[in-house]
Amino acid sequence: MIVIGISGSPRRDGNTETLLDRALAGAEAAGANVEKFVLCDYEISGCIECNDCFESGTCTIGDDMDAIYEAIERADRIVIASPIFFMGLTSQMKAIIDRCQCYWALKYILKEKFPREENAPSRQGSFIGVGGTHGENLFDGAMKTLKYFFDAIEAKPREDLYVLVRGVDDKGEIEARKDALEDAFESGRKLAESA
Ligand SMILES: Cc1cc2nc3c(=O)[nH]c(=O)nc-3n(C[C@H](O)[C@H](O)[C@H](O)COP(=O)(O)O)c2cc1C
Repeated sequence: MIVIGISGSPRRDGNTETLLDRALAGAEAAGANVEKFVLCDYEISGCIECNDCFESGTCTIGDDMDAIYEAIERADRIVIASPIFFMGLTSQMKAIIDRCQCYWALKYILKEKFPREENAPSRQGSFIGVGGTHGENLFDGAMKTLKYFFDAIEAKPREDLYVLVRGVDDKGEIEARKDALEDAFESGRKLAESA
């Protein structure tokens, strides 16, 4: 069982990454092999809509996204972690999602299967979201995007395991939210344990 966590926060060791670390610790406690990717350490272009992937099912840009593609294809479980910026995902996270247009093309234009080994565990996706405010609709935009992202990469969205944390703004503020840290750990554990 391979669980990858992708952080889209531009702030290293901020609230999002702290929660992601807890989730990956939970997955590891359940026996999974875990890997973390922090997007602000990568140079990743947005999608340029060249549509090369409509022919090949792969992206021809060639940058640090190649490491993320490789991880996404290997992963059994994917945890997307992002702060809310302007009611949506960060630009770092949105860039990799848009670059997964090649998987959308593979599925809906070329009508081919997502590259997976035979008998691999089911693919599932989860989300950790953090925002500074308390708005009821704070995560709606992010969750809508993730619904279509998980569909493109053939991962079942585990909305029951999403960890959505409101009212956390300053760096380190999450440390005082023991409930959220515990929820993230449990979410990661259950994600890795479920069939
Ligand atoms: C550019 C920018 C836009 C933001 N937009 C929102 C927003 O729309 N709603 C909200 O509740 N918080 C917003 N925030 C606050 C962040 O979501 C919050 O500070 C979060 O804890 C940051 O997580 P991090 O420490 O992982 O970077 C914004 C912050 C920045 C820098």
